[in-house]
Amino acid sequence: MTAYPIPRPVSGDVVDLILDDHRLFETLMRELRDSTADRDAARSALAAVIVAHGEAEEQQVYPRLRRKDAIDAEEAEHGEEEHAEINEALLTLLECKGTGTQKFDDAVEALNEVLQHHITEEELSILNPAREEVSEQDRRDLGAIFLEIRGKHLDAGVTVETVRALVGEAHREGVLPADAGE
Ligand SMILES: [Fe+2]
Ligand SMILES: [Fe+2]
Repeated sequence: MTAYPIPRPVSGDVVDLILDDHRLFETLMRELRDSTADRDAARSALAAVIVAHGEAEEQQVYPRLRRKDAIDAEEAEHGEEEHAEINEALLTLLECKGTGTQKFDDAVEALNEVLQHHITEEELSILNPAREEVSEQDRRDLGAIFLEIRGKHLDAGVTVETVRALVGEAHREGVLPADAGE
């Protein structure tokens, strides 16, 4: 039972599919700001779609756009860094026990900031070259691959442990600064 079902399209242009998820992020963030909404359910749905979407971009979309010379290595790496920052802010939000606390509101605000920054930058610096330099057929093929990886993550389920593991990996790999205590 959830008030926030995650759409599972089966095909589409990768640019449209990514934009649809970005709009979903924004809808769910709005619910997280609303004290009368089912904020716990919105938080779970947002975590699932952020992780499934980001992993699919990193594993397939960014590398394939690089191979087509639509984006450069720096743009792909920058996107991965921002995904790691989003996951870190998402982890803080998921670790909040209640949803009616100042801590929760602060975590919503922090996540909103990194998420909005990233989707704006990604639409400008990654989706625009994909629109301009990648053929319609290739964008559809890439859409199918994006949906396959996204679907695998949604099927596997995304929990606080999933996000904690991704954040830990980002620290170990130097995508995020090394943890002081580790
Ligand atoms: Fe994205
Ligand atoms: Fe992204």
